[in-house]
Amino acid sequence: MTRASPPANTAAGAARRRGAAARAAADDDATSPVQVRQVRRSDLDPVIEIDAIVTGLEKRTYWRSIFRRYGSGDRPERHFLVAEVEGRVVGFVIGEVRDWEFGEPPCGWVFAINVDPQSRLGGIATRMLQALSAGFRRSGVRKLRTILARDNTLILSFFRSQGMTTGPFIPLEMDLDA
Ligand SMILES: CC(C)(COP(=O)(O)OP(=O)(O)OC[C@H]1O[C@@H](n2cnc3c(N)ncnc32)[C@H](O)[C@@H]1OP(=O)(O)O)[C@@H](O)C(=O)NCCC(=O)NCCS
Repeated sequence: MTRASPPANTAAGAARRRGAAARAAADDDATSPVQVRQVRRSDLDPVIEIDAIVTGLEKRTYWRSIFRRYGSGDRPERHFLVAEVEGRVVGFVIGEVRDWEFGEPPCGWVFAINVDPQSRLGGIATRMLQALSAGFRRSGVRKLRTILARDNTLILSFFRSQGMTTGPFIPLEMDLDA
């Protein structure tokens, strides 16, 4: 299985041992083994596969609809990016700039971020979040937000490592009668 990690005897390899931020910085050039780019229709199979590994559900119809909404590239506020290593898609991130939601000025929301378990801890999610944030900055927003499941400590650890902290909102919900 292809690994995202660069060889240990390179500067990037040394950076890998120092942590994700250093790895992402060391990878931040055209020679990086990890390329983050706009999704293509042909990426849908690996995206569906990675999502199915993480969630245990294969949602082909859902992903086709997400691709139509976020992957067309004709809405600059909508982002659907993939990370590719040696020609293989190993992760994806989806986000959108939303205007005046909850009465707040426009901000960038991360809806989903997933990395193939075989390619984790190589700085790939860090690179994808940086690319998404760069897109949000180009749209003029200066705030990044997300919502995550309370018991998903893995994704919480990741977002905390990126500098995210508790925001000003409280999620509420209730059951609706059938
Ligand atoms: C969370 C996830 C995206 C991280 O991807 P990744 O490419 O491994 O992340 P990175 O290598 O960029 O890690 C960045 C930092 O996140 C934290 N982190 C990542 N994986 C971690 C783990 N298993 N345990 C603790 N901290 C972790 C670390 O602080 C890490 O920095 P470090 O390596 O310097 O310690 C990946 O594990 C994943 O896809 N998990 C499932 C996601 C999920 O549940 N998605 C559904 C909701 S959207």
